[in-house]
Amino acid sequence: MSQESQNVLSAYDWLRKLYHHLLRFTKDGKEGYHYLKERGMDDETIETFQLGFAPNAQDFIAEFLAKKGFQQQLLVKAGIVSQLDNNRVTDRFRGRVIFPIRNHIGKTVAFGGRSITDEQPKYLNSPESELFQKGKLLYNFDLAKKHIRKQNEVVLFEGYMDVISAYQAGVKNVVATLGTSLTESQAKLLNRYVDTVVICYDGDRAGLAATYKAANLLRSVGCGIKVASLDEDMDPDSFIRKHGSDAFINQVIKASDTYMSFYMRYLQKDYNLNLEGDRITYIENILKELAMIESPIEREYYLKELSEAHQISIETLSAEMHGYRQKQE
Ligand code: GTP
Ligand code: MN
Ligand code: MN
Ligand code: MN
Ligand code: MN
Repeated sequence: MSQESQNVLSAYDWLRKLYHHLLRFTKDGKEGYHYLKERGMDDETIETFQLGFAPNAQDFIAEFLAKKGFQQQLLVKAGIVSQLDNNRVTDRFRGRVIFPIRNHIGKTVAFGGRSITDEQPKYLNSPESELFQKGKLLYNFDLAKKHIRKQNEVVLFEGYMDVISAYQAGVKNVVATLGTSLTESQAKLLNRYVDTVVICYDGDRAGLAATYKAANLLRSVGCGIKVASLDEDMDPDSFIRKHGSDAFINQVIKASDTYMSFYMRYLQKDYNLNLEGDRITYIENILKELAMIESPIEREYYLKELSEAHQISIETLSAEMHGYRQKQE
């Protein structure tokens, strides 16, 4: 690691402690603390995730770190402060709740700051660097690792709020991407640790589309998947807040679908199954997907489901599917 990166790590470590202290113990941090309390976070969770608050001040952080001996140039490069036109700087995070983003060994390599008003953007992150590449890191991997190993399963979320909520609710084998789609490098990392990834994204359309993409990427690196679905207007954090942790475990995580069940539901959204043409194309698409499944038991199971749902004999469906299987060979 370069000397510069080591200095950045050291600045980030001071900053994590300062933001956390401000949130917990000062008047300046009260609004951040209340915001987190309103969102149901307890003190232990705030401690575990080292959550903090960046006060709404011009250059409070810049001055603090300058006094610790950090060069202004380094702070600019690390995205801690922004250079104004003249020789003055301004803090990057102002009036935001701070989420330290830790790498796989628990070192803070970036910060995420959430606005506590309607100010845009909702989340602001540190810039990418040698230390922090969004596409390579999974939020909370360091704390989740032992639980992931023990359960041979990991739950994948879209946001850090979802991770923190689930962890507080006792579901600890949880990680999240950082506002980007799952990358191949993240998929491979997960596949090294588990047989099954449970994808639990937001219930909205974007979440559904992202689920389909993540599911296929994970399958392509040889990883098994399940899909835990939420209603349209829910994400994991809001579900846990509304229905509690038992409901989340039993009705969402344990009730997760196989890829095929998910795919059948996912595809339905693109078709009007009351129209004969649509219905036929839909069934053909499902059969093409089924043709790629190796287990005869699994294939039979879904053929039966399709047959019952659409009043077509298993024999007919099976013959068509076998046609697709031969084409693959
Ligand atoms: P809350 O609204 O606080 O509950 O957050 P959320 O986790 O539900 O946010 P959302 O589902 O909108 O986004 C999921 C993840 O995408 C967040 O955890 C962020 O990492 C990222 N994200 C969301 N909005 C922004 C944004 O405005 N800018 C950036 N850089 N990332 C964002
Ligand atoms: Mn503390
Ligand atoms: Mn979303
Ligand atoms: Mn969300
Ligand atoms: Mn949310």
